[in-house]
Amino acid sequence: MKLQNKVAFITGGTSGIGLETAKLFHAEGANIVLVGSNAERLEEAGKALNGKALLVQADIRKVADIERAVEKTRAKFGHIDVVFANAGATTVAPLDAVTEEYINDNLALNFTGTFFTIQKTAPLMNKGGSVIVTTSFLNTIGYPGLSILAATKAATRSLVRTLGAELAPRGIRVNAVSPGAIATPFYSKIGLPDNVLSQVAAGITDKVALKRFGEAVELAKTALFLASDDSSYTTGTEMVVDGGLTQF
Ligand SMILES: NC(=O)c1ccc[n+]([C@@H]2O[C@H](COP(=O)([O-])OP(=O)(O)OC[C@H]3O[C@@H](n4cnc5c(N)ncnc54)[C@H](OP(=O)(O)O)[C@@H]3O)[C@@H](O)[C@H]2O)c1
Repeated sequence: MKLQNKVAFITGGTSGIGLETAKLFHAEGANIVLVGSNAERLEEAGKALNGKALLVQADIRKVADIERAVEKTRAKFGHIDVVFANAGATTVAPLDAVTEEYINDNLALNFTGTFFTIQKTAPLMNKGGSVIVTTSFLNTIGYPGLSILAATKAATRSLVRTLGAELAPRGIRVNAVSPGAIATPFYSKIGLPDNVLSQVAAGITDKVALKRFGEAVELAKTALFLASDDSSYTTGTEMVVDGGLTQF
């Protein structure tokens, strides 16, 4: 049990990487706080955790929602040991389709939401705490139609360094997991028709050295390493889990 009695606050915990991580952390003894914006998915995710998680419906784009989720966590558990700032989504928009509203919406979820998740949870964290941010392979390589998501993910990679430096004196570590192409519902939400999506998937698979999409559980295992004392001397870094996509 690598997380026995620890309290793990997980955003984007209702689906994909966040849900698999919540299941693994739960199996390793953690008390789970699951944050998601969709009520039905939240309820389903709660069932997948044997009804043991604290479920909080919150829109990470709204600071007041994050504050409410943190307050519910404080009221139930009093403190937080692990933060997984993982919520994220986008739609495909090439250069000429990007609007001010699109940029603001992407920033609010994928960058500002991540920042305030860390800012609002930090006061509840103690020495030995671990913050993990989900970045992306897109912070390293360019991919058409995803300019704004990529920029927000590069910004969160930067946050991991700066906030890692700020929280290090308190003994709190801050790291990132960087997924490559992972088989989750993420792709069904990006606004591409199925036939285009399968062409995109084939194109990405061809570029991955291991010639397959990753599984959410492969990210969860990396998040577990970063959450637990196994990584007690690791901070400010980004662990890349992408089958070689950005390395070769
Ligand atoms: N899958 C990949 O290939 C890949 C690659 C690189 C990076 N990533 C990153 O990995 C993270 C997890 O993505 P995933 O692949 O697991 O996708 P996913 O299955 O679509 O999960 C996304 C999660 O984010 C939550 N979310 C979305 N909008 C939200 C909002 N406004 N407020 C609160 N929660 C919100 C969703 O919850 P609700 O539905 O309840 O709102 C869901 O739990 C994201 O940050 C994504 O950018 C994924």
